[in-house]
Amino acid sequence: MTPPRKLHIKSYGCQMNVYDAQRMVDTLAPEGFVETASAEDADLVILNTCHIREKASEKVYSELGRLRTAKDEAARGGRTMQIAVAGCVAQAEGEEIVRRAPVDVVVGPQSYHHLPELLKRASHDGRAIETEFPAADKFGFLAQPKPEAIRARGISAFVTVQEGCDKFCTFCVVPYTRGAEVSRPVAKILDDVKRLADNGVRELTLIGQNVNAYHGEGPDGQSWPLGKLLEHLSQVPGIARLRYSTSHPRDVDDSLIAAHRDLDALMPFVHLPVQSGSDRILSAMNRKHTADDYRRVIDRFRAARQDIAFSSDFIVGFPGETEEDFRATLALVTQIGYAAAYSFKYSARPGTPAADLQETVSLAEMDQRLERLQGLIDSQQSAFNKAAIGTTVDVLFEREARKEGQIVGRTAYLQPAHVMASPDIIGKTLPVRIDSLERYSLLGELATKPVAREAALSSMATGA
Ligand code: 5AD
Ligand code: SF4
Repeated sequence: MTPPRKLHIKSYGCQMNVYDAQRMVDTLAPEGFVETASAEDADLVILNTCHIREKASEKVYSELGRLRTAKDEAARGGRTMQIAVAGCVAQAEGEEIVRRAPVDVVVGPQSYHHLPELLKRASHDGRAIETEFPAADKFGFLAQPKPEAIRARGISAFVTVQEGCDKFCTFCVVPYTRGAEVSRPVAKILDDVKRLADNGVRELTLIGQNVNAYHGEGPDGQSWPLGKLLEHLSQVPGIARLRYSTSHPRDVDDSLIAAHRDLDALMPFVHLPVQSGSDRILSAMNRKHTADDYRRVIDRFRAARQDIAFSSDFIVGFPGETEEDFRATLALVTQIGYAAAYSFKYSARPGTPAADLQETVSLAEMDQRLERLQGLIDSQQSAFNKAAIGTTVDVLFEREARKEGQIVGRTAYLQPAHVMASPDIIGKTLPVRIDSLERYSLLGELATKPVAREAALSSMATGA
């Protein structure tokens, strides 16, 4: 038997890349690859890259600089280290990458199932590049994780249900790097989910670049919306929590709202990016909705599930954004009240329509707007976290914490929560009385009383 080869994979960017990295590991496992934590002693290093903003993209080139040294070092020791660049930078800048760095394989997100073959081709020819969008469904060809791999990854898992985006926001590279919107059929997702649940997974996050545009084929031959898929998956034994990410406000349909109203497993925490609160900027971004449309969508969610909370993404300094436009964003944030949010300085991306617009906001101004926005968001987030103190909330326990005897889990709103308890509680959802807050983490004790929503349901069930 050949000795195992060591694989080091480093992912940047979104959850889709985290998921893809796992699929690459699963695809390379039958080739004898096992994961290693360090790049230096690896036989294969994969950089799974992100192209969303310039800063993310540039990281790849600095990392490749470091790897060049490690590769030379390995060669001096008589060892071959292969370097592969995957992800969206590979898709967008394949030729540039091989020009600038000693890379063996460049592979776009649609071709990960070809990795074993590409590595062989690179050993033979010195280099292999594949950044096509093949017509065939890549998901069908990606290896399934082994039970041990699922267990090692813990109780919370991502499942890709949709990939690509047809929205064409003018600032965004995703429609070019990930291609057109494609949904996986329900039956295939269900197979994956059952395998995960059978091996200890209790929480699923359905992921897609525009996940609520989901329209996969159902077992009845009809196209199913995301709400119906969620309803179906909530019936899989073992699955305690469902989440989905990332959504577009335009694609929130009644099935999704109904799912939030009806499914206890569906967590009341929605990432719903708005990007800006100014209609002028939203239109220049081609978001296809106004700030008021967004407010109405939020209202629909809130009417269905009163304890629902939101997070969002914002871009400051989009070309043409005035102080007044920016204030409209602050006003929207104040009005909605977020549990968390991410904000970014606009970064012109080559090939996107907005890259042709004249940039009007200076870097200093962008920094200042970012600081103001983040200040507001931070104050909302800390008020939201503080509000948990003194309440009893459900926590799904994930793993042992760094501090001995402590177990950490997450609330419905993804807040980390720590208790002193036995590791037996890992994988269980239990009520926790929250006593204090340490930075972003909640600290508490296991409680005996069920929380309000569950109490209401169990009293309904018993007729009390
Ligand atoms: N500049 C800055 N932020 C961007 N995002 C996407 N493209 C850009 C860009 N060109 C942000 C958006 C998106 C998040 C994933 O990244 O806010 O929702
Ligand atoms: Fe990019 Fe999201 Fe807009 Fe699609 S909807 S183009 S992924 S920002």
